[in-house]
Amino acid sequence: MPKSRLHGLPIKSPELIQAILDEANKIIKHEHVLITETKHGFICADAGIDKSNIEGKGTISLLPENPDRDAEIIRKTLKMKTQKKVAVIISDSFGRAFRLGALGTAIGVSGINPIRDYRGKKDLFGYELQTTMVGQVDSLAAAAQLVMGESDEGIPIALIRGYKFDYNEKTTIKPILRKKENDLFRDDTGDKIKNILKSRRSYKLPFANINIDKEIIKECIEIARWAPSAHNGQFWRYIILERDKLRENLIENMNNKLQQDLRKDGKSKDFIKSKVEKTSRSFLQAPILILLCLDTSDLEKYPDLKRNQIEFLLGTQSISSSATYLLLAIEMQKLAACWYCAPLFAKDVVKNSLKLPEKYIPMAFFTVGYPLNTIKTPNRKKLNEIIYEIKK
Ligand SMILES: Cc1cc2nc3c(=O)[nH]c(=O)nc-3n(C[C@H](O)[C@H](O)[C@H](O)COP(=O)(O)O)c2cc1C
Repeated sequence: MPKSRLHGLPIKSPELIQAILDEANKIIKHEHVLITETKHGFICADAGIDKSNIEGKGTISLLPENPDRDAEIIRKTLKMKTQKKVAVIISDSFGRAFRLGALGTAIGVSGINPIRDYRGKKDLFGYELQTTMVGQVDSLAAAAQLVMGESDEGIPIALIRGYKFDYNEKTTIKPILRKKENDLFRDDTGDKIKNILKSRRSYKLPFANINIDKEIIKECIEIARWAPSAHNGQFWRYIILERDKLRENLIENMNNKLQQDLRKDGKSKDFIKSKVEKTSRSFLQAPILILLCLDTSDLEKYPDLKRNQIEFLLGTQSISSSATYLLLAIEMQKLAACWYCAPLFAKDVVKNSLKLPEKYIPMAFFTVGYPLNTIKTPNRKKLNEIIYEIKK
């Protein structure tokens, strides 16, 4: 059952939903109602679109484009016609979080500050007020709404007399809108995830000389557990290598293999020396080194080589998805990491040095530590370079 029907609310037409989307900067919540941030920055239901008190079936009313400007025009016109300094508040009725009942809420002002700031003033007992700010235009709008009504009263204007305030011709509604970064209730999970996905970098610089609690690494691997895998095989096996003799031996043995390979390739002594130094530095200085293996025992077995090769590929793809989860989990812990393919080139050396189970195939290293520097973002291909459009 649609949630709106469950809550006894009318189902919105697709046209109305489109109009709400057109008028909204952002959908803040989409449950049985659409809570939106309007283009002005107001948080309200349905982008402030109204269907009641409007003549004509299928006609809706939008919030004014610039309520501050409209309030200013009204204020100036009143001043011209009456020579009186009158402040103008344009309001709408908005629902509220935590409490039932709509309240008149200011959406545009002229001549009056939205906030009455009591900070620095003394209370009854002489204590200085530290944080008190009163949303005076909202209070006035709420009172006015009671006389203007919500249904068929037909009263569009209320005149408020006797309220003392500082007349100010240069005001806008903006100061009453809480800044996003100070808004504890705004759900910005989506933005946070997007930021983590985009800000993660392969960290190849020296790490801070700070040890990492192994439990934090285990928490990251716990996240990596949730990656998708072919027929849910979960072929990934993680080995956490801290700075110790075993790890030093492993890196030394891998370096010997690297030297042999490069010699066979005919590389110069200098080239080999610098390459070996670079890799061993990366691995030796990392506070934590994680080895990722593919456990082949859980791969499906086929009677023919071709399908077994495909299955192996599926296993490799699957552990890569877990590795990506791992990198993101590491990023969420404000740690830095880099994926290295070196174990692939020294599978047997790694296996023998660590006495790994027969069915394990070493696939990757991840250096992990606290970063000392920020990494420049490498270029990314444009979207149209990675989406291949089929010509029809
Ligand atoms: C499968 C794989 C293997 C990689 N192997 C190495 C490696 O051996 N050495 C290295 O410096 N970086 C390695 N990287 C890191 C990439 O070079 C890095 O992801 C790339 O530079 C993009 O940078 P970014 O992660 O900061 O966006 C590897 C990355 C992947 C996904």
